[in-house]
Amino acid sequence: MKVAIFPGDGIGVEVTAQAVRVLESLGLPGLTLFEGDVGAAAYRRHGRPLPAETLAMARACDAILFGAVGDPSCDALERHLRPEQAVLGLRAELGLFANLRPAKTFAGLEDMSALRPEIARQIDLLIVRELNGDVYFGDKGMRTTATGEREGWDMMSYCESEVRRIAHIGFRAAQGRNRRLTSVDKANVLETSQLWRDVVIEVSAEYPDVTLDHLYVDNAAMQLVRAPGQFDVVVTGNLFGDILSDQASMCVGSIGLLASASLGERMTEYGTFGLYEPIHGSAPDIAGQGIANPMAAILSAAMMLRHSFGRDAEAMRIEAAVARALADGIRSGDLGGTMGTAAIGDAVLERL
Ligand code: IPM
Ligand code: MG
Repeated sequence: MKVAIFPGDGIGVEVTAQAVRVLESLGLPGLTLFEGDVGAAAYRRHGRPLPAETLAMARACDAILFGAVGDPSCDALERHLRPEQAVLGLRAELGLFANLRPAKTFAGLEDMSALRPEIARQIDLLIVRELNGDVYFGDKGMRTTATGEREGWDMMSYCESEVRRIAHIGFRAAQGRNRRLTSVDKANVLETSQLWRDVVIEVSAEYPDVTLDHLYVDNAAMQLVRAPGQFDVVVTGNLFGDILSDQASMCVGSIGLLASASLGERMTEYGTFGLYEPIHGSAPDIAGQGIANPMAAILSAAMMLRHSFGRDAEAMRIEAAVARALADGIRSGDLGGTMGTAAIGDAVLERL
């Protein structure tokens, strides 16, 4: 059971260290960890955000535990050298097209939500975000128009096979939950979205047990704060999923609590190959201070045990330990508390 640990930049380093402590404490026989460089850290050491040796390590492992990438000091670099290219490159190179971002309010944390507690309490949803296509991976560039203005452009597109495979993931996820799937698009304006909607409807014929509905992304953003309890599984494209998942995180209280899995088609002898990361970024403003919340990283390790190693029991133990720590009042700064990263790691380990 080989795991590539890619802590990356900023608080990625601090939170990943706590997730690794939790993993190691389980004493799983055969679990071997390897560490590699990504992001600005890799750029400084190797001149590229995703060095060939990092990619080779990722391919040789059964799963990746990822921290975060991003560093404001790299903002002026050419795009292909920027830290974000590490995670985008891994997603593309490894065919990780399905991004699962669960959002559920922890008992006792309703007051931390940006929403009223009685609304926050309803949230238990899963965002299934397509991760290999859309405007993220289309051609892009800067050009000068005929009138001499600078113009930036990014091509948005989806082909039907891309929509079909993520739609299947969404429907299957809904079958394992409350059998409701909401597809989010902008079909009133975008051809990309019209195709998305048409294909999702075609795929729905194979899932008569799942109730499908469609929302335009602007309405979905509004509904997510108005009545989030209506959502079970949300399936959407890369850009809309990026935005809605950050929004969902604030609805449950803190972005420091949300984990994610990025999966593809590759199977290993233990489960589905995947990359697991907290959805928060590198948070340069608090990096290096030991105050970041490691819970999203710890919960990402739990998702890894479940999806890539078939270790559901251990995943549930970790999730229960985090929930108990929160119920006991363990709070980092993002949750209005004062506890540091390592102390929260200790608290989770004690409860584990
Ligand atoms: C995310 C992040 C990434 C994305 C960035 C770092 C490229 O915001 O995982 O949500 O936009 O996908
Ligand atoms: Mg994002």
